Parts: sequence; C-alpha cells; structure tokens
Amino acid sequence: MATNWNPESWTTHEAKHLPTYGDAAKLAEVEGVLANFPPLVFAGEARALKADLAEVAAGKGFLLQGGDCAESFAEFHANNIRDTFRVLLQMAVVLTFASKQPVVKVGRMAGQFAKPRSSPVEVQGGVELPSYLGDNINGIDFTPESRIPDPERMLKSYSQSAATLNLLRAFAHGGYANLRQVHQWTLDFMDRSPWAAKFAEVSARIGEALDFMQACGIDPETVPQLQGTSFYTSHEALLLPYEQALTRQDSLTGDWYDCSAHMLWIGDRTRFDGSAHVEFLRGVGNPLGMKCGPSLTPDALLKLLDTLNPGREPGRMTLISRFGHDKVEAGLAPLVRAVKREGHPVVWSCDPMHGNVIKAESGYKTRPFDRILTEVRGFFAVHRAEGTHAGGIHIEMTGRDVTECTGGAVAITDEALADRYHTHCDPRLNAAQSLELAFLLAEELNREAGERARQAA
Ligand code: PEP
Ligand code: CO
Repeated sequence: MATNWNPESWTTHEAKHLPTYGDAAKLAEVEGVLANFPPLVFAGEARALKADLAEVAAGKGFLLQGGDCAESFAEFHANNIRDTFRVLLQMAVVLTFASKQPVVKVGRMAGQFAKPRSSPVEVQGGVELPSYLGDNINGIDFTPESRIPDPERMLKSYSQSAATLNLLRAFAHGGYANLRQVHQWTLDFMDRSPWAAKFAEVSARIGEALDFMQACGIDPETVPQLQGTSFYTSHEALLLPYEQALTRQDSLTGDWYDCSAHMLWIGDRTRFDGSAHVEFLRGVGNPLGMKCGPSLTPDALLKLLDTLNPGREPGRMTLISRFGHDKVEAGLAPLVRAVKREGHPVVWSCDPMHGNVIKAESGYKTRPFDRILTEVRGFFAVHRAEGTHAGGIHIEMTGRDVTECTGGAVAITDEALADRYHTHCDPRLNAAQSLELAFLLAEELNREAGERARQAA
C-alpha cells in the first residue's frame, strides 16, 4: 500500500483541469451521497484486469482500449452501447487471429465524462463563456447557465455509468459475444466494404479456423468460453471529487481501489510531477494508464513510474503514447529505451488519435485516417527497432455511423463532416473505420507473431 496516502491527500497538491464549484455545500452533499452508493466495480475484477495486463507487459497479449472521447447524457442509448461493444469485439477477433495472442478488451465506457480542455473559455460570435468540461461537470449548450459547474451532474453520471456497465456485463456474458456471431457480423461488414478485397484473406482464414475448431468439437455449444468474453471499463480519472467518493477499501485485502472503473488513466495534461491526479492515483490498487506525449522527458517518465509503481508490479502501468504521426518515431524511442533500461514492466499502448487532430477547412475538428494509421505503424516500427512489445492500441471510436474522422474506405471528405458529426469532444472513428484499422493493424501484428515464432524455433 502507498505510504502517506489517503483518498483525500490529493487535495493538498496542485490540481489542474478541475472545475470550481460555486456551491460548496451542494458539492459536499453530492459527495456524501456518492460515497454511500454501491461501488461500480469490485476490486477483484480490477486485479483480474491487472493480471491480464501483466501478461501483455510480458509480451504475451495485446490490449484493445476504445470508446467515446466523451460520453454524454444526450447519446445515452442501449443501441449506442451495443454497437460500440460489438465493434470492439469484432476488432478483438481480428487482432487475436493476427497476433495469435489473447486480446484484453477495455472500453472507454461507463464513466468517460470529464474532459481537460485546451482553453478554459470558448468564444462564439464575440461571446465568451467558460468551456464545456464534460457532461458530469457542465452542459455543452452555449449559454451562461449551462456552463456553470453543477455537482448534481455527478449523480447522473453515476447512474448512467451503472446502467451502461450493467448492459455491458449482460452482453459479455449473456450470449451476445458468441465468437461465431461476432465473425458473422464481420462478414456482413465485408459485404458492404469497398476495401473488402484487402481484408478477404484474413477473414476467410478466421472462418476456416472456426470451421476447423468446430470439426474438432470446439464450438460455443461445447465450450462456454466461446459464448462470452471478459470486458473491462476505463476512463480518465480527471474529476477527483467523483473519483474520491467512489474509492473504497477492499474488504478482502484492505487495499484502496477506485471503484468507478476497472482501469483509470492520467491524461497528458495532468501527469506532471507533484500533481493532484498523480497523488490520487498512486494510492489506488487499480491498473493505471498514463498518456505520454511530446513534452514528456525520459527522466520525468521514470520518476512518475517510481511514484506510481514503486513495487514494479507487472500490469499496474500502461503507457499510452500519443505523439502524432510525424513525431512518434523520434519521440517514443527515447522513452521506450529508458523504461527498458530501468526494467520497468509496462504495457506500451498507442493512442494514434490525440496527436493527429487538425481543423478542416469546413471548421470541424477532425483526424485523417491515414495519419492515424501512420502513427500506429510508426509505433510498431519503434518497438521492432528497440526489441520491445507493441502491446496495445487506444482509440476514440463509436459503433455509430458518424462522419468525424476523414478518410477510410468510404473516404469521408472534409465537406462530408457536417453530415453526422455528433461527438461532444474529439472526432471518433466510426464503425467501419475502426474495423478497417483492425484489419490494417493485423499486418503489423502478424509480422510480430512471425518474429516471435522465428525466435522460439
Ligand atoms: C483523451 O484521451 O480524451 C485525452 C484528453 O487525451 P490526452 O490526455 O492524451 O490529451
Ligand atoms: Co479525446
């Protein structure tokens, strides 16, 4: 257990990107209510995820983490949860097949509400208002009332997270995640995809593998594991009053866990030395992510690892690099080298989204699909060169047919962004683009799997 730590020790540290609530009494009341609500996850589940991630850190698995940039109250619907879950499963099947390794599935779901913003204010038509900070803090409508931080929003986030998690658990274990079914959805997608020819070989081989397994008596009817899957949740632990209120001492081990999600991560803007966010997360036993962008030096990274994982527990730390397509090779290599030299057991994951935001001529914030792909390929190239494991990807995506990122097989253009641009924050890959990314990633993973097989021979 962390020394000199308690669930509120973060309050004496420098906190960035936290809202200022005008009504302290109301905030305290909401915190009290949340502190009496049931935890959303059980500490044992967080430990199970940590054990899965320890395998990934050891080079024996791959992490797939994805979901909305910002969940919202407006987009809360069973169909959206179902569709995002389905695409993540489809991606996972392709990645499992290509890597010949288990894929650990973690949603940016059931709690991903709070957003750090590049500017504290937003200007529209000469009017300046506080920025939108996520649905658990204030409203997206451009009015002065809507932008006032309201503690009661945390209660709504809690209830939306609980309902989302409940549905995810039902899908994961109630028959929806059946392996045959997931592959059939991919075949249906291929029927409609302009890039079907590119993906035909991999998908045909997956189909053959399933047929072969069935002939050997291994199918969802005989092997219950093929009917369901494990699925975990995660979000950026940004809104510390909320996270603290859901932090509980595990009755089995006596350790503290943030029971708002299985995995929590620290954003690129709040991972500075001495930050309140680092202080809070160092004391909870969950697996942690940390975003690593261009401003992070190898020395600062090693110091943060010593703070967050002094016992060097495998599976505890996932480092999520987010450099940008043109900076990843030069920027990531020194970090990978330093971590390897010091022997820290980490999962290296690639967020190819946050370094690749551009403003389209139409005025929309977007991310070109080819830059996303270039960053992923650069990430794999660095790990190949350094002899380390390219352990995962972290993406902003949705199962809906939105038009937020340009490119992909149906080649969404700048002009088309206006058609279905629904995100509350950053642009997401749509269902087709997400699956296309998985197929394109399969080539990289195949190469890694081939390399492993050669070394083992
Ligand atoms: C995010 O993941 O939505 C985010 C804000 O990322 P970063 O901290 O890497 O900028
Ligand atoms: Co984002």
